[in-house]
Amino acid sequence: MSKNTVPKRIGILTAGGDCPGINAAIRGVGKTAIVKYGMTVIGISDGFSGLITKDCFELTESHLSGILTLGGTILGTSREKPFKSDSKKKNDNAKPLLIKEHYEQLGLDCLVCIGGNGTMKTAHMLSLEGLNVVGIPKTIDNDVWGTDMTFGFDSAVNIATEAIDRLHSTANSHKRIMVIEIMGHNAGWLALYSGMAGGGDVILIPEIPHDEDVIMNYLKKRANDNKPYSIVVTAEGIKIPEGETSAGRYLARKIEEVTGLETRETVLGYVQRGGSPSPMDRVLASRFGAAAANLIAENDFGKIVAHRKGEISSVKLAEVAGKTKLVEHDDPMVKQAREMGTSFGV
Ligand code: F6P
Repeated sequence: MSKNTVPKRIGILTAGGDCPGINAAIRGVGKTAIVKYGMTVIGISDGFSGLITKDCFELTESHLSGILTLGGTILGTSREKPFKSDSKKKNDNAKPLLIKEHYEQLGLDCLVCIGGNGTMKTAHMLSLEGLNVVGIPKTIDNDVWGTDMTFGFDSAVNIATEAIDRLHSTANSHKRIMVIEIMGHNAGWLALYSGMAGGGDVILIPEIPHDEDVIMNYLKKRANDNKPYSIVVTAEGIKIPEGETSAGRYLARKIEEVTGLETRETVLGYVQRGGSPSPMDRVLASRFGAAAANLIAENDFGKIVAHRKGEISSVKLAEVAGKTKLVEHDDPMVKQAREMGTSFGV
């Protein structure tokens, strides 16, 4: 029997920061692979670490039942970067070699890598080493190149928006300025969407360098115009002076110092990544998972599944690896928010 007609054996791993929807994606790949194609599915523990140590187990349909709504990842995750040498030796490729060896020993026909930008970069490097790889993009940051949307993002927007909504009433009662720091690494998507959904008066994102004087004057003017409170939504990745560790804390201190207006900060943190995925993320993750299984069945490797212009499609890993999808200065949402009087600090 030719290799193509023998049901395939696939490995799945989840790497990088977790997010809501990963289990839905594991279920999507796993169930489609098993039910539609009769494949064997091997779950690899803790991202690329599990391939280095060969820590894995067969994922059966029973492992995949009841996980659609679960937050986190049943496989565990890590930020292991196998191509980043941790030894002083030049050209130390011990980890990639172990990964290749274990991929062969496990008899895998393909490795599914569920992760963000870092994971896609590693996945691409493994595909250059000769492994069959398919990527599934996930992250609350929504910054993976090649896809309009990653799962995890919608859930995080919901969580961050609820937090901003809740700040409005307490800000109003106390006539305070509330600064809320939102995750997103170097991208401003999460701050932009939740800031817009939550009616932030100021939205600061790393892609649009801000001027502190503009923010201070804007907030003073609002107070003078009898607006009793203001909400400042800042992405964690905006530029702040060296030595400062949190955008939210720094800004709140500075605003109170300069404007004299009572100010408080909220650093929202990991709640943005935790818990059950939103219905939209469950659907997107399931569709991504099924699409990944279909690519594998067609021997269409070296790609990530993507959501582009409302359709599920795929993009070459070579196009995606090493890039970050950032908010453009002239993004229609930025333009629209500006036209409604929202300040981006410029
Ligand atoms: O990429 C997701 C993310 O939550 C970012 O928004 C944040 O900057 C980072 O991960 C935090 O990473 P860690 O889990 O290593 O603290």
